[in-house]
Amino acid sequence: MVMAKSAKLELNGQTYELPVVEGTEGQVGIDISHFYRKSGAVMLDAGYGNTASCKSAITYIDGDKGILRYRGIPIEQLAEKSTFVETAWLVIWGRLPTKEEAEHFSQQLTAHAAIHEDLRHHYEGFPAGAPPMAILSAMINALSCYHSDYLSIDEDAKFEGAAARLISQVRTLAAASYRKSIGAPMNYPRPDFKYCENFLHMMFSNPYDDYIPDPDVARALNLFLILHADHEQNCSTSTVRMVASSGANLFTSCASGVSALWGPLHGGANVAVIEMLENIRNSGISPREFLEKVKNRENHIRLMGFGHRVYKNFDPRSKILREAANKVLAKLHKKNDLLEIAQELSELALHDDYFVERRLYPNVDFYSGTLLRAIGIPTNMFTVLFAIGRIPGWIANWKENHADPDSKINRPRQIYIGKTQNDYIPRGER
Ligand code: CMC
Repeated sequence: MVMAKSAKLELNGQTYELPVVEGTEGQVGIDISHFYRKSGAVMLDAGYGNTASCKSAITYIDGDKGILRYRGIPIEQLAEKSTFVETAWLVIWGRLPTKEEAEHFSQQLTAHAAIHEDLRHHYEGFPAGAPPMAILSAMINALSCYHSDYLSIDEDAKFEGAAARLISQVRTLAAASYRKSIGAPMNYPRPDFKYCENFLHMMFSNPYDDYIPDPDVARALNLFLILHADHEQNCSTSTVRMVASSGANLFTSCASGVSALWGPLHGGANVAVIEMLENIRNSGISPREFLEKVKNRENHIRLMGFGHRVYKNFDPRSKILREAANKVLAKLHKKNDLLEIAQELSELALHDDYFVERRLYPNVDFYSGTLLRAIGIPTNMFTVLFAIGRIPGWIANWKENHADPDSKINRPRQIYIGKTQNDYIPRGER
């Protein structure tokens, strides 16, 4: 097929010719970047469902076929063969690292795992029970105060230093926020542990009672993080790029990503799914009855963990997580009634006209909570774990935006629907 080089748009009797761009996987985009200047009209696309905000070479998704690839490599291969640290390098630098590059990066992560001692005092200012996502966003932002060398990044070595600090310290900050939330002393990272083992140690070791990481648990965590490493221009990544477009530094841009991720329609859905499953179990209603409530839109409830803006087929991450949750539960000899409810809900929904017609399938969050719970992660840390996983994606997008000579400050327009001009009325006359 030969691609058209331009598209035509007619407005008020005038025809505008708009250039057409094509991605490496054949995706077609109509370039409207000069349309406003020529016509004075804007495009309205609430929720950006039809808008490509950038060109990107990081992640490819085909939502109809259920395909997800990081830098061209299918997620299934990475889930089977890679580690989170290697995947992070791939996502950020665009190819798999050589042995030397991988070793150098691991050394950097180990060297920078501890946070500045003064940062630990910030935790004292948070109330007991503060949500760990709020703490994480604040603490990543605070990194800007302790690494002022990295506020402006003009060379590759500096970028690598900032990226390594962020990837390594996000897990230290996250574990510390959990320790704070349960009133337990914080643990220092251990240089002899790998990335996931070190996180588990910082979460669960106690004075005189070292947590010995179970290899199956560490592997499951690795898998979870790999599956969350990037997902093209989702809400939090777009937020990071939006903030980065103003020239803001890497730490503060990623802190804004954490805030965007927190919401229940985005990363917060992994908590919402577990709460939904627990509600079903505790209220004694059957999964079938629950689905009826969803379809009748009772109290606006949704089947959390189902549906996706891009996937109109199985989310490949959900398939991998379902298998992983089953395997890890079997290995740890645990039975999980929530996973059973989830599987029953999924079976029913996949054969129900409401969900079939709207092309609603399980997304990454449907099984991730059951996996995290199986490996002992507390519910209030689920979305934090998503954030740790997504950090490489945010860093890669920040880097891509930073290096793009055509990058502009992101500044959408609006269609104003408020009052037309009216006059100020003095207070006594209102
Ligand atoms: N349960 C019931 N109905 C749903 C659901 C759901 N989970 N998702 C969408 N629908 C319906 C929706 O009511 C609408 O129906 P109608 O056309 O009759 O009004 C139709 O399907 C289209 O939904 P939409 O809200 O216009 O779709 P969207 O692309 O704006 O929203 C979504 C995508 C993920 C926000 C939505 O599917 C949702 O709320 N799902 C539940 C929350 C969730 O699991 N979020 C995690 C997303 S994946 C991880 C991540 O990216 O963070």
